[in-house]
Amino acid sequence: MKNKKYIKESMKYIWHPCSQMKHHEKTPLIPIREGRGSWLIDFNNKKYLDVTSSWWVNLFGHNNKIIKQHITKQLNKIEHVMLAGATHEAAIDLSKKLSKLTKLSHCSYGSDGANAVEIALKMSSHYWKRVGLPKKNKFVYLENSYHGETIGALSVTDIPIFRKQYASLIKPYFSVPSPDLRLNKANKTSEEFIQEKIKSLKILFENKHEVISSIILEPLVQCATGMGIYDSIYLKKVRELCDEYEIHLIVDEIAVGFGRTGKMFAHQYEKIIPDFICLSKGLTGGYLPLSVTLTTDKVYSAFYSDKMADAFLHSHSYTGNPLACSAALGTLSIFEKEDVLKNNKIKSNLINKLMIDYKNLPIRSLRNIGMIWAFEVDNKIDIDKFTEYSISNGVLIRPINNTVYFMPPYCISEKEAHHMVAITSEAIKQAI
Ligand SMILES: Cc1ncc(COP(=O)(O)O)c(C=O)c1O
Repeated sequence: MKNKKYIKESMKYIWHPCSQMKHHEKTPLIPIREGRGSWLIDFNNKKYLDVTSSWWVNLFGHNNKIIKQHITKQLNKIEHVMLAGATHEAAIDLSKKLSKLTKLSHCSYGSDGANAVEIALKMSSHYWKRVGLPKKNKFVYLENSYHGETIGALSVTDIPIFRKQYASLIKPYFSVPSPDLRLNKANKTSEEFIQEKIKSLKILFENKHEVISSIILEPLVQCATGMGIYDSIYLKKVRELCDEYEIHLIVDEIAVGFGRTGKMFAHQYEKIIPDFICLSKGLTGGYLPLSVTLTTDKVYSAFYSDKMADAFLHSHSYTGNPLACSAALGTLSIFEKEDVLKNNKIKSNLINKLMIDYKNLPIRSLRNIGMIWAFEVDNKIDIDKFTEYSISNGVLIRPINNTVYFMPPYCISEKEAHHMVAITSEAIKQAI
């Protein structure tokens, strides 16, 4: 009964994101009263396993004691102070730690992933202007990329459903073929496939480097297009080409940073240092909105001058908010105290074992990296029916077209993983 009241009021007053509101006439919203670990609980006490970590942010689940303690402590000191002309302990501590983890020494803060991308794009093209190469103001992005939905971020995003309606607002930049292994239709060796992608990138760089500021990519997993995984060697080769043609490499770790792929940051599968790294989502463990764009001494120095007009004048009111920074410090403290990556590896192996029978299901391209699993279901599966069955049986899943994926919180237990795998498998069978 209580659920119904919240559903009605939400439908009346809230324009929900990434949603066709009419769809909710048939598929009701899920009103959440509270969260505990890997679980979300509605107003009728029904529990749902949060297998997407609430849009990939709640790394350590809900109601995490350590992150809460950090925020509470900060709340008793200072809740907010502008980061222009003032500074504070939480932002300083966080920046020191992030610099050490990424080897990039300058942190510029925002509130959401798209903010971080806007900052990287603007900073990169502004840098080239500062060093006397103003024509270098165009960007390269990968086919099927996703970097957010503000106008700048959308201009390097290649997912038609998000981009098409705003095409007239977006500047045309350069898109290059994606190394997503699912696109290897001709069954080339992985090496040949990557080489082919690198070849087209090289041709573009060769012809257009004078106007290219940077290339932006999601390292190892193009998440929003349906968890398209690719070989890390691609990153190494892109770095080499960027060096050869004086083009910045922007690595968007917003979805995959903080251990999701098995390394702290996905680009660290190779020994490369990007020119910019964008972080958000898992940064605060799902507690408060915060993003950060990190860059090098070289970029930073180009803006260091006596004139205000030479500065990087991008800001948001909540830039470096102390509570959000303290949540991020809470997240990092968990990584410092526990061997999260090692524990995740054990969990990942276990979940792979639990999924062994998935090979007998009507699915394709079952893949896994770190704490991400994905597969495509056959056309004969009714995906709405699949989702409905999963949710009504306590697994909160949100497929991307016909791609089903799991990105569970790192605190998922063996019993919970079993529930996730068993319910999803049964949902596939029920949806044929
Ligand atoms: C790789 C990547 N970049 C950027 C974004 C945008 O982040 P936000 O939704 O916080 O603006 C996302 C969001 O899913 C993402 O996956």
